[in-house]
Amino acid sequence: MTNTNNLVPREAILKVRDLVVSFERGRIKAVNGLNFDLESGQVVGLVGESGSGKSLTAFSLMGLTPYGAKRESGSITFKGLELTTLSPKERRELCGRQMGMVFQEPLTALNPVFTIGEQVAEIFRLRLNRKPKEAREMAVELLARVGLPNPSAAYKSYPHRFSGGMRQRVVIAMALALNPELVIADEPTTALDPTIASQIIRLLKDMIQERKTSVLFITHNLRLLTGLAQRALVMYAGVVVEETAADFSAALHPYSRGLIKALPPNPSQDTSRRPQAIPGGPPPPGFTPPGCPFEPRCAERLAICAQSLPPLRALPGQRALRCHNEPPC
Ligand SMILES: Nc1ncnc2c1ncn2[C@@H]1O[C@H](COP(=O)(O)OP(=O)(O)OP(=O)(O)O)[C@@H](O)[C@H]1O
Ligand SMILES: [Mg+2]
Repeated sequence: MTNTNNLVPREAILKVRDLVVSFERGRIKAVNGLNFDLESGQVVGLVGESGSGKSLTAFSLMGLTPYGAKRESGSITFKGLELTTLSPKERRELCGRQMGMVFQEPLTALNPVFTIGEQVAEIFRLRLNRKPKEAREMAVELLARVGLPNPSAAYKSYPHRFSGGMRQRVVIAMALALNPELVIADEPTTALDPTIASQIIRLLKDMIQERKTSVLFITHNLRLLTGLAQRALVMYAGVVVEETAADFSAALHPYSRGLIKALPPNPSQDTSRRPQAIPGGPPPPGFTPPGCPFEPRCAERLAICAQSLPPLRALPGQRALRCHNEPPC
């Protein structure tokens, strides 16, 4: 029977439970008990200041633990399959085909000694067993699809000949080549100027909508999420402090509201408003106080905030809040 009721919650394609990623044999917990669901076909934003653990979360989902980090505990399930116990071979089979990642820095994702086309064609050759000629045609077609002006010439170019925006188009092409159901995009536009960044976002949006891909979209720029994502997860010091609508109109946590106030004014709207930075800075790595990690910077702190970490409480409308203040904060 076809389900026509939009109110029926969709099934979660990805479930993260109590994920802890640490350094120095557990002394520094950079991701400290992360919980979230990503529903099939949804785009969910992951935001937070630098060092909050966003990239480590992304890497952990892909089974990678960079810079000496270690997944200490927790469960990650993709379509019901527990990923943390997969063998490296099973992992490789899943990555690319079912889960793709767009990395924060495109140069690190591309091999400097092979041409762009060889790297894209290799995916079709090795993963889909296509003959070299067919793999090449598929690669040129995909390079055209991501908007490279002369795809046949691009095929023969080396990554260093490309601008940042063109490299990021190639990285998106590679992440989407096998049509994965889930894509993790880690700040895909931070290194780009605003015009190129908005072209890349448009490309990602078109490809996501066309293929109905589920996406975890990591960004510093809260405004990018409006019109792209359905929900946003706000991360601070390794934990989610709030789940809210992607436009942040109903954000309740003092940290989420602080991030909005810190945004530069939108030129088409409130030009008189001045951005207000959140006082203080993000906590140092390994800051795991008994209470809420945002407490030292919070203008609305209560006595209890320094003593115990509040749970992430579910609120109506697929929202959740980790705050001792009763909503609305
Ligand atoms: N080798 C290390 N030893 C200890 N802590 C580390 C090490 N490498 C990274 N960290 C810490 O891990 C934390 C999470 O880093 P992560 O790269 O996930 O941040 P992020 O949210 O992606 O930041 P950004 O927005 O700058 O990309 C940071 O606090 C960082 O200082
Ligand atoms: Mg990062």
